[in-house]
Formats: sequence, C-alpha cells, structure tokens
Amino acid sequence: MSQLITTTRLEAIFEIVLNRADKRNAINGEMYRQLDEAIQTAEQTPGIRVVLIRGEGPVFSAGIDVTTFLELPQRYGADWMEKSWMITREFQAVLNRLEQLPVPVIALLHGYCLGLAMELSLACDIRIAAEGTQLGLPETRLGIIPDVGGTTRLTRLVGPGRAKEVIFTGGQMDALQAAEWGIVNHVVPADQLLEKGEEVAAEILKAAPLAVGMAKKVINGLVDLEKGLTLEGWAQTQLFKTDDFMEAVQSFLMKRPPDFKGQ
Ligand code: COA
Repeated sequence: MSQLITTTRLEAIFEIVLNRADKRNAINGEMYRQLDEAIQTAEQTPGIRVVLIRGEGPVFSAGIDVTTFLELPQRYGADWMEKSWMITREFQAVLNRLEQLPVPVIALLHGYCLGLAMELSLACDIRIAAEGTQLGLPETRLGIIPDVGGTTRLTRLVGPGRAKEVIFTGGQMDALQAAEWGIVNHVVPADQLLEKGEEVAAEILKAAPLAVGMAKKVINGLVDLEKGLTLEGWAQTQLFKTDDFMEAVQSFLMKRPPDFKGQ
C-alpha cells in the first residue's frame, strides 16, 4: 500500500505530509484513512508539542478525490444516499479528532487549498500560506455543501457574511485576501513556507505546554460546533439525492461545465 500520508517526528514537532502529488493531493478514502492514523499517532506519541501539516508537490491539496463519490455505492451499498448521514459523520470525525488534538496544529498551504483540503486547514489552529495560494470551498459548484465542518468552522472564523460569500460562490480567493479576512495568519514567499511554520512552532514551544493546551480547549469551546456539524449533515443528506449533484460529478469527470437544473 503506497504511503499517501507520511509522518516525521523532529523532537517536539510532528509533521504530517499529504503525499499524492501526481493527483494534486486529492484525498481519496485510503488517504483519508491514513490521515486519521497519522492524527492518532500524533495524539498518542508523548512529547509532541506542535503538529505541522503540509502537502508534497505543486499544491497543498485539490480537496476530495471526486472519484470517491463514485465508489460510495461499492463501499456503503446501492442505498448509500440513505446512509449519507453516517458517511458525513465518519468524515467529520477525522477532522474533529484533528481539531481536538491537545497541541497546536499549523497548516502550511501552497498552490491550491480547495474543498475538503480547506476544511482540513480550518480544523487546524493556525494557517500559513505561500504567496499566490488559492483557497476555496467549491462544493456548491458540485451541488453539495462543505459538510466536513467547513461551513461551521469558516463561519466561526470569519463570521456569516464572509463565510456566505465564500460558500455561495464556490469561488477561489488569493492568500492575501484570505489573510485580510483572517482565514490565514501569515502569507510568505513559497520558499519560506516551511521556515515560517517552524518559526511559529518555535515560538509556541517557548510557552508552557499545559497552558497552551488549555488555551486551545477554551478557544475551541467558545462555539457550539456540534450544532453546526449536525446541520451540515442534515443538509448534505438531501443534496446527495439531487440530480444536480450527479450532474456535477459527471461534468467534473468529463471536464465540461455542469448544467444545473435546481432539482
Ligand atoms: N479529484 C480527483 N482527481 C483530481 C482532483 C480531484 N479533486 N484534482 C486533481 N485531480 C487529478 C486530475 O484529474 C489529474 O489527473 P490525471 O493526470 O490522471 O488527468 C491530476 O490530478 C492533475 O490535475 P490537473 O488539474 O491537471 O492539475 P493542475 O495543476 O493543472 O490544477 C487544480 C490543479 C487543483 C487547480 C485542479 O486539479 C483542480 O481544479 N482540481 C479540482 C478541484 C476540485 O474541484 N476539488 C473538489 C472540491 S469539492
């Protein structure tokens, strides 16, 4: 089995790397499973005080591997749409685990950070982007919504007005705009991305670990995440059954624009 996620430990820093560059780190089922394993390793390894997440190749990640949607009937049965609530919950559980890691997690973004990849980055504590990175939640262009916590976490981060524009349009924003909106903390030249991540990590290592962990718990506890995740799952259950969703997947695979009918 190829290593779609690799991990390295360097003293107190644990690095998780998305490693499917030929497919622009598009996240398929196996890669997501390996990501979950890496998160659990970070959780269980004593002495880890900061986690860094980055992507190999030209982009951080193009989001969910769209072909994953076609595999759902094989994996969950022909009536998978009836069980989509459970599938959403399974996907959400991985990013919840990431968010609940007791140590700070820093996402290092470059190239593109789209869809599930942006949801992943929103479950991290700090985002640093290389200049020119394009971020976006294109789910509505696929007939669905960001249901792996992205709708809730983006709203928590930037407020409803900005979150609605990002999600309603499904468009992309440049790293500088993302910084202006508070989505990314720093924008740096691409060749300084890792260095900046390590610099922020080094600053965190100067603080007392239990205090940092408690601060994270308090800040994360300020918002009722669970209510948002439940609403995301409810909405997605209905959208998976629409013709527009199927049309979006087909048009993506055929590399043509979708023809949405609103049904
Ligand atoms: N799902 C499945 N395959 C994907 C993918 C995705 N989300 N993103 C990229 N790939 C595949 C391409 O099909 C292509 O495969 P091939 O070489 O077998 O044809 C390969 O990765 C390279 O992609 P390509 O589009 O040629 O790379 P690029 O550098 O020109 O563009 C992106 C990069 C990210 C702009 C572009 O790949 C893209 O827009 N991807 C889709 C993003 C998306 O809609 N994600 C879904 C979010 S809900």
